[in-house]
Amino acid sequence: MAEFLILLYSILMTKVFSGIRPSGKLHLGNYLGAIKNWIELQDKAEQAIFAVVDLHGITTPYDPAAYKQQVMDVILDYLAAGIDPDKSLLIRQSKIPQHTELAWIFNTITPVSWLERLPNYREKVEQVEQSGDKNAKSYQNNLSILAYPVLMAADILLYKSNLVPVGEDQLLHLNLTNEVGAKFNHVFGEVFPNVKTHLATGARIMSLQDPTKKMSKTGDDGIALSDEPDIIRAKFKKATTDSGKEVKFDQENKAGISNLLTIYSLLAKKEMRDIEKEYEGKNYGDFKSDLAEVTVNFLKPFQQKREEYQKDMSQVEAILENSEEKARHLAEQTMKEVREKMGI
Ligand code: TRP
Repeated sequence: MAEFLILLYSILMTKVFSGIRPSGKLHLGNYLGAIKNWIELQDKAEQAIFAVVDLHGITTPYDPAAYKQQVMDVILDYLAAGIDPDKSLLIRQSKIPQHTELAWIFNTITPVSWLERLPNYREKVEQVEQSGDKNAKSYQNNLSILAYPVLMAADILLYKSNLVPVGEDQLLHLNLTNEVGAKFNHVFGEVFPNVKTHLATGARIMSLQDPTKKMSKTGDDGIALSDEPDIIRAKFKKATTDSGKEVKFDQENKAGISNLLTIYSLLAKKEMRDIEKEYEGKNYGDFKSDLAEVTVNFLKPFQQKREEYQKDMSQVEAILENSEEKARHLAEQTMKEVREKMGI
């Protein structure tokens, strides 16, 4: 009985937070690796907040003229994918100024050495150097790439969130979040909870061009949730596979076809074994064109819903404003505690 109550309590008291940078339209990897989980969590959690982290997005080169639209594209993707504004708050990070206030405060207790050792930081610096963007120079070695995870810790802890659904690549950032929160509690007094990571189950979707890299938003690498059917067909046709013939899951030797099989199995909700059986004696071409149809069909209701929202942007604005106002209120409650503990 006691155990049951503890379990019930921990589900009811769950406060979920997650975010995605607005660096382009969301793709199948974002959906299967993250958002699908968010939608399940929003039904159970006491509080669920999903953000477009636009202040993270400006730490690497971007186009100011296109940025507002990019943010809105992700918001539309969230809504169309099933994030329900009656259950969750949908926010633009920059509309809640407490994120940056708490980040600054966390800067005062975060040793630079904690940040320098993070591999994501090193990768980002390299990416910017190699990006060829005309502004890349002014982004090299900038403070915000280094401080990126401090702002992320602030995003999460500002709402006293205790469950963060993210991909594996964010695990070290979550560790840092807990280190920073614990240090604050130790130095100034107890404010922040411990945060648990919720890893997406069995979904790491890779690039269609280079199956050793994560699916990204560029070129033919990924299927955007809003891609037209013919674009989807063309992208799968061009997807990298090995020189073999057999449609078989073999991560090590057949990374390309294995990635496509994973997508097929998740979208069609079929067991890998059954799909392999179905394609015995058939070739990659047959499999790819069927996968394209499975994907087109899967995305149809999503795309219809997205179009409906797009036709009524004033409704979308209203949803955002309502969510952001509630978020500011929650944020201010935490900040009052923080400022008081710090004597500011
Ligand atoms: N760092 C995350 C990424 O690159 C994005 C992010 C920012 C985030 N703040 C967050 C994710 C808070 C979860 C919680 O994907």
